Amino acid sequence: MRKHIFNAGPCKLPMTALENTAKAILDLNGIGQSIMEVSHRGKDFEAVLDETIVLMKDLLKIPEGYHVMFMGAGASMQFAMIPMNFLRTKAYYLNTGTWGTNALKEGKLYGEDKAIEIASSKDKDFTYIPKNYAKPTDGDYFHITTNNTIRGSEIHEDYTCAIPLIADMSSDFMSRPVDVSKYAMIYGGAQKNVGPSGVAFVILRDDMLQRVADRPIPTMLKYETHIKNNSMYNTPPCVNIYTMREVLKWLKEFGGLDEMYKYNKAKADKLYKAIDDSKMFRGTVVKEDRSLMNIVFVMEEPYKELEEGFVKFCSERNIVGIKGHRSVGGFRASTYNACTLDDVDALVKAMAEYETKNA
Ligand SMILES: Cc1ncc(COP(=O)(O)O)c(C=O)c1O
Repeated sequence: MRKHIFNAGPCKLPMTALENTAKAILDLNGIGQSIMEVSHRGKDFEAVLDETIVLMKDLLKIPEGYHVMFMGAGASMQFAMIPMNFLRTKAYYLNTGTWGTNALKEGKLYGEDKAIEIASSKDKDFTYIPKNYAKPTDGDYFHITTNNTIRGSEIHEDYTCAIPLIADMSSDFMSRPVDVSKYAMIYGGAQKNVGPSGVAFVILRDDMLQRVADRPIPTMLKYETHIKNNSMYNTPPCVNIYTMREVLKWLKEFGGLDEMYKYNKAKADKLYKAIDDSKMFRGTVVKEDRSLMNIVFVMEEPYKELEEGFVKFCSERNIVGIKGHRSVGGFRASTYNACTLDDVDALVKAMAEYETKNA
């Protein structure tokens, strides 16, 4: 029996994507070879790669002048590649959590004064998105994390910025419509809304190639290499890209990003309402900045010691993945695209039952 999966990433994927990948692993398009066995340079895989890019461009309405790339090593590799390629004089970082902190750390390798933390919500355990600061007007780029997977906060608007805006969208990519034209670069690890772990997506505006820093950059770490070779300078993660294509096909069938956003909002609203209506559970993030993807909550005193019991109570009801990140504690329910209202209903029901039993 399939469980109610609330894992933070890797996470729940649409069943059709899993089934179609399973089939392709055994026999791709009836050619008597697995997706794992064909050459990445052959026509069968090339068609998969091309269609994945077309679907991404179509769903996100990516304007002309942007390159779509796939590479290994996750979003964390991008933290390093961004300053390596684009940090010339100085860059700004908005620090809204662990991942923003990690990205900033890589920038600071080029000089403590070159990667500047423009604002941070660390003072309140990253439970809000800073707003009282002036957006940068000079510098090489402004780096933001649109959704903070661990703390459960999200930037709900597309910022307007005078300098190139670079966004880590690992955990809210394809969960809502985005005005891509506002961004110089969008990137993330695929393992939340678009596929399994092991592949990162990068959407890069062409003019950024004119802004590359004058320093030796290893071939594999240059964006130019991946653009020139259509993500095939080296052997790409073929199976992961195949699954990504299947996830994007599912998303298109679902009705695209407008419909996906409505569904995601409905799921999150339902869960946040259950949290707010309860006397046992409490949301940790300020309401206006609450993530639609990662819903973080804890138990109020005097119920704190009942937290562990709730994880077990859920697991007995086939609800998995709700234990909070080790750095935060409490609970985190990740309601990515493939998570259903039925999954959320099961969790809401378990919360109510647990409260009735123990409060
Ligand atoms: C927002 C965000 N950025 C970056 C990362 C790191 O991604 P990866 O593990 O693909 O390097 C994660 C992982 O969960 C994330 O949630």
